Amino acid sequence: MIGRLNHVAIAVPDLNRAVARYRDALGAAVSAPQDLPEHGVRVVFVTLDNTKVELLHPLGENSPIAAYLARHPDGGMHHMCFEVGDIAAAAEVLTGQGARVLGDGKPRIGAHGLPVLFLHPKDFDGTLIELEEIAPT
Ligand code: CO
Repeated sequence: MIGRLNHVAIAVPDLNRAVARYRDALGAAVSAPQDLPEHGVRVVFVTLDNTKVELLHPLGENSPIAAYLARHPDGGMHHMCFEVGDIAAAAEVLTGQGARVLGDGKPRIGAHGLPVLFLHPKDFDGTLIELEEIAPT
């Protein structure tokens, strides 16, 4: 069902410092920061040949990233995102096997303008999983 690894997301306590490390020390292509108020995040994309890294920083009140950083003050891996062809079908298969979709269970529009949903980390060995619907090419 799942296709490529679309991105790995890292929660970072200091976004400028993280950007400098990826851009200057690691020599990666790094985007300008983008605010996603509906997700409570400010995000920077690090584009690699085969995948992306998303640097996530809290934005606004009740950011899920603020809660994560309260538990992991140094930052850490927040989620992985896998590509799927049909997100509604994927959600149906997964919930049919007992996996829990976070929120109201419906896909939302994610950071790349495509439908996404999140699967409960307790159902995936402690890792928050994002699915993103990629249009067939
Ligand atoms: Co993501």
